[in-house]
Amino acid sequence: MHLRLGVNIDHVATIRNARGGDHPDPVRAAELAAAAGADGITAHLREDRRHIRDKDIERLMGEIKLPLNLEMAATEEMLTIALHYRPHAVCIVPERREEVTTEGGLDAAGQHNHLKPFISRLVDAGIRVSLFINADGHQLEAAHELGAPVVELHTGAYAHAGDAADSALLKAELDRLVRGAELGTSLGLEVHAGHGLTFGNVSPVAEIAGMRELNIGHFLIGEAIFDGLSATIRKMRTLMDKARGVA
Ligand code: PXP
Repeated sequence: MHLRLGVNIDHVATIRNARGGDHPDPVRAAELAAAAGADGITAHLREDRRHIRDKDIERLMGEIKLPLNLEMAATEEMLTIALHYRPHAVCIVPERREEVTTEGGLDAAGQHNHLKPFISRLVDAGIRVSLFINADGHQLEAAHELGAPVVELHTGAYAHAGDAADSALLKAELDRLVRGAELGTSLGLEVHAGHGLTFGNVSPVAEIAGMRELNIGHFLIGEAIFDGLSATIRKMRTLMDKARGVA
């Protein structure tokens, strides 16, 4: 089964914002990603707008044909924005102002009462909701109970476990993702994954049966400095296809 690649373009906006102007344009990066084999565009509208801004979301919705996966915190402000633009998907992420990036998964189990009506409003608006969670059984079960059709498994711990293929920690983290994908699929959830994926660590995650989509950002934008965005995305696409046994 085709494994979708969602290209996260946040860090094109990070570079743009460093100078306060319009260049480089994340929407242009999204166009390029589409041409290079991406199946979707992912963008995280953070509370502090440190990278993607509201205008970017408006333009991505208006100018890009690929489905948009809007990552956002479960706040009233973000709900209003999501219901206004109605992206293809919303991925609910935990957000702390002081963090450098999304450090952990959402506590779907602990925030049941807050998330339940929040998710319902998005689902009722026809938006595909995913929850960015750690690959833990109780979080997967909570996502299912909350009525989210999709989960995105946080691959950060796997990505940070090191490069050595024989590392026990790496194996344990990969195994956690494999078991998470199995449980998610058995619960009827569509399983995605993302965070910290690179050329070096993507293949074992792409091989996981039941995995349907990977969302990848920082590495692609960073690597593009050396190899260009198009070539970098094409290479990631090829690695993912190889892992799935697609020629
Ligand atoms: N998926 C989610 C839910 C994220 O929050 C992020 C980071 O914004 C990613 C995927 C992409 O992670 P990275 O930029 O490390 O590839």
